[in-house]
Amino acid sequence: MRVFTGIQPSGDLHIGNYFGSIKQMVEAQQNAETFAFIANYHAMSSGNGGEKLAGLTMQAATDFLSLGIDPNKSTFWVQSDVKEVLELYWVLSAFTPMGLLERAHSYKDKTAKGISANHSLFSYPVLMAADILLFSPEIVPVGKDQIQHVEIARDIAIKFNNEYGDILKLPEFKIEESVATVPGTDGQKMSKSYKNTINIFGEEKAQLKVIKKIVTENVPLEEPKEYENCNVYNMAKLFLNNQECIALQNRYKSGGEGHGHFKLHLADVIWEYFRPYREKREYYMKNQDEVREILHLGAQKAKEVASPMMETIRSVTGISY
Ligand code: ADP
Ligand code: TRP
Repeated sequence: MRVFTGIQPSGDLHIGNYFGSIKQMVEAQQNAETFAFIANYHAMSSGNGGEKLAGLTMQAATDFLSLGIDPNKSTFWVQSDVKEVLELYWVLSAFTPMGLLERAHSYKDKTAKGISANHSLFSYPVLMAADILLFSPEIVPVGKDQIQHVEIARDIAIKFNNEYGDILKLPEFKIEESVATVPGTDGQKMSKSYKNTINIFGEEKAQLKVIKKIVTENVPLEEPKEYENCNVYNMAKLFLNNQECIALQNRYKSGGEGHGHFKLHLADVIWEYFRPYREKREYYMKNQDEVREILHLGAQKAKEVASPMMETIRSVTGISY
């Protein structure tokens, strides 16, 4: 089975990203043929360009490799290193009704907020369709906000196939229902846009400062405390095994400790959990050429799939003559 995913290079990763998506991606490598790429062309539609984009791309590559994307198990590359995707994007544009894109919420939401859209934002779903259809995956794991984009890819593929035969494979999206939403420091969904994140690769002192800000209820030190709805407990349990969870619950129930103690514990748990990843990251940060080399080899592997598909498409559409 081929699993396919695209990652927007968007800066510092937080523990919501890790438990909501990266961990599953790393686990998927064990039993599926995994294709994962850094969507740097897509990032341009949100205004990231120039040196900033180059930096974000290298940061995403370094972070994902450090967190367990294994280039021997997965095909891992940067979107712009496989240019076939831009050619397919144009071909698919000819099979994309305007109405389909006008209904896309990524575009609709922004224009509804009065943000003026450029063409890349409008046509983003066509590029995403090209990303996917070039590689014929069975499964595209996505967050809820991306379901519509996979559906648009299917619609476009159906239109293309109606004209030229059964060439593009219709992808299925997969939502990881078991993945809970990770709360942020204020109790809302952890998200960069809410400024409530705990970053995976932050400095230890800065991380502790953020953890100390987690909103908790006000209960005197000596009294027992609720753990079920406690943001600190709900974060800690992501990192702990069953036994460790029960031990922490008992500390809440027995009183005598305040939320400050639980926050210190959480800070320790997070710091230790990411220690091996941090060490790997330090290595890759010192060896950025090695990261580039991995991406380069990944692009070559990706092209082995993308090139023959694009050849077929050129042939049936009459682009080759
Ligand atoms: P952000 O909201 O910080 O901008 P993104 O939208 O870039 O995060 O999310 C990238 C991936 O991480 C998505 O697959 C998303 O589902 C997952 N993710 C982000 N925040 C959370 C969270 N709080 N809980 C679970 N998963 C999350
Ligand atoms: N649009 C996706 C996001 O914002 C990233 C992405 C681009 C993607 N192309 C893709 C995801 C293809 C899956 C498949 O998160």
